[in-house]
Amino acid sequence: MTKQLPLINVLSICLVGCGLVVSAANAADGDWKRGRVYYQNVCTECHKAKAGGPIAPNTRTMAEWTTYLKADKHVKGKESLAKYASKEYRASIKSTNKAAEKYADIPDEQLFNDVKTFMLKGAKDGDSPASCL
Ligand code: HEC
Repeated sequence: MTKQLPLINVLSICLVGCGLVVSAANAADGDWKRGRVYYQNVCTECHKAKAGGPIAPNTRTMAEWTTYLKADKHVKGKESLAKYASKEYRASIKSTNKAAEKYADIPDEQLFNDVKTFMLKGAKDGDSPASCL
């Protein structure tokens, strides 16, 4: 006699599966490649110089990054993080920073969204955890 899976189990397996697909699709939708270039060449450059070393995306989970990015409090709450993706900041360093120069004209929100997309993709539990710096 074959034992059938109760219908309710089949349904819940399906729901969990679908939920995962939906949450992945809802993750930040920017250009992660551009975000990576910016992260590695602007964010990481300063972290190496002033934060005691690089801060890899894979040191936190997607949920932790989402909370961190939403709060927009950089350096333990002392300042906004978004400003480091702003045109104003890019303009101030572009004479010595190629990535800032290359992306000088990208709107603030768009570039910050690219950086966020890279951080989520590179998170500990993201699509491709990034330690690479
Ligand atoms: C001008 C220098 C500078 C730039 C540019 C910079 N950071 Fe930072 N960042 C710091 C310093 C300093 C710290 C504090 C390290 C510490 O003492 O804990 C820090 C800390 C962090 C931390 C750890 C949590 C926190 O806020 O303390 C994260 C995450 C971070 N930076 C992300 C970024 C991202 C993303 C960018 C680029 C969009 C960026 N940073 C650009 C200097 C910088």
